This record gives sequence, structure tokens and C-alpha cells, in this order.
Amino acid sequence: MNSEAHRFDPVHLDRLLSPQRQARWAPQDFLKRFEIGAGQRVADLGCGPGFWTLPLAEKVGAAGTVFALDVSQDMLNALASRQPPPAVQLLRSELPAINLPDNSADWLWAAFVLHEVAPLDVQVREMRRVGKRALILDWRPDAQGEAGPPRSHRLWPREIIDVLRANGFDQARQTWQDDDNYLIEASATA
Ligand SMILES: C[S@@+](CC[C@H](N)C(=O)[O-])C[C@H]1O[C@@H](n2cnc3c(N)ncnc32)[C@H](O)[C@@H]1O
Repeated sequence: MNSEAHRFDPVHLDRLLSPQRQARWAPQDFLKRFEIGAGQRVADLGCGPGFWTLPLAEKVGAAGTVFALDVSQDMLNALASRQPPPAVQLLRSELPAINLPDNSADWLWAAFVLHEVAPLDVQVREMRRVGKRALILDWRPDAQGEAGPPRSHRLWPREIIDVLRANGFDQARQTWQDDDNYLIEASATA
């Protein structure tokens, strides 16, 4: 698969910050389910204009770091224009490669990006190299609603979980879903 063909077009980046999306996810509230704490380091993979990056930065506080990675300079510029706190470090990075050192993140946050990247197993191994806990939010192929990427681009949670377990995240399970989306939480105990 050519993963560039699945990439979100930055022309539509305003959609990622729309009031409707804010109301749908209430990101500060959604993130409360995770034990992301002050002083921790989070890698926000495919951060876009920072819909999750800024709430993540609130959670880690001034002593923490959110590495905000995206291949699109337009997305990174849009995030920069939102004046993120110093805890946010913007990094141009083309997934599946993550230009961070080994074990440099406490959490990997991948929201609505894995379906845009290939190969999945390479991506997961790279995530495991960088950290031990991964959180993946993405679109159901059998979603009820019409929003989101083409269904043929979407990944079944089972597929992601199998790849996670085969590539170092021995604990991996789906912990939430609604009609359109799902959440997978994974960790490496070794
Ligand atoms: C649908 S947007 C989601 C953005 C953000 N995670 C959110 O939920 O608001 C997907 C993002 O992933 C980025 N992306 C897609 N393919 C990428 C790649 N190969 N490397 C890095 N970023 C990528 C896109 O530029 C875009 O910003």
C-alpha cells in the first residue's frame, strides 16, 4: 500500500479543530481515563494541528514533554500558531519512522493516524522501540456514521491488537468503542 494515498489532506486541517469535533471528543475529559501524569513524556504521532497535543500538554505539565510529530509542515505550523506551551516539542517526522531515541516516551498516542501509515508491523515495532505504553484511537470499518476516512482505509481493532502482541506489546486490548470509533490500550511488560 502507498501510505501517502491515505494521508489526511492538510487543506482540511480546520476540520480537526472544529467545534463539532471538540464537542464529540471533549479531549480533556476523554484523556482522564489514562494515567498520564505530570512530568511524563508523550509522543503524539500524527499530531495534526494539536487537537490532542494541547490537552496532553496540560496533563504532563511544565515538567513533562509532548513530542508532537507530523509529516506535514502545514500541520506543524498550524499547531505552532496555537502557541503551545514550552512542554510541546514539534518534530517533523515521517511515520512509520519516529525520530526519537529508544525509550524516550512514557506514552505513545496515535489518534486517527494508524490507518494512514504502512506497514503496520514496522510502525508498531518503532513504537515499541520508543516506549512501553501505547494508546490508539481510530475509525471502525463498520462505523454507523458517514464521517471519517474511506472504509477501505480503516483497520479492524483485531488486526492492530494481533500486530501489537506480535511485536512487543504483550498486553493489548480494546478498552472502548462507540458506534464509530475504538480505543486500544497496549503495554509491554518485558
Ligand atoms: C486524521 S489526522 C489526525 C490528527 C490528530 N491526531 C487528531 O486526532 O486531531 C492524521 C494526521 O497524521 C499525519 N500523518 C499522516 N501520515 C503520516 C506519516 N506517514 N507520518 C507522520 N504523520 C502522518 C497527517 O499529516 C495528519 O496530521
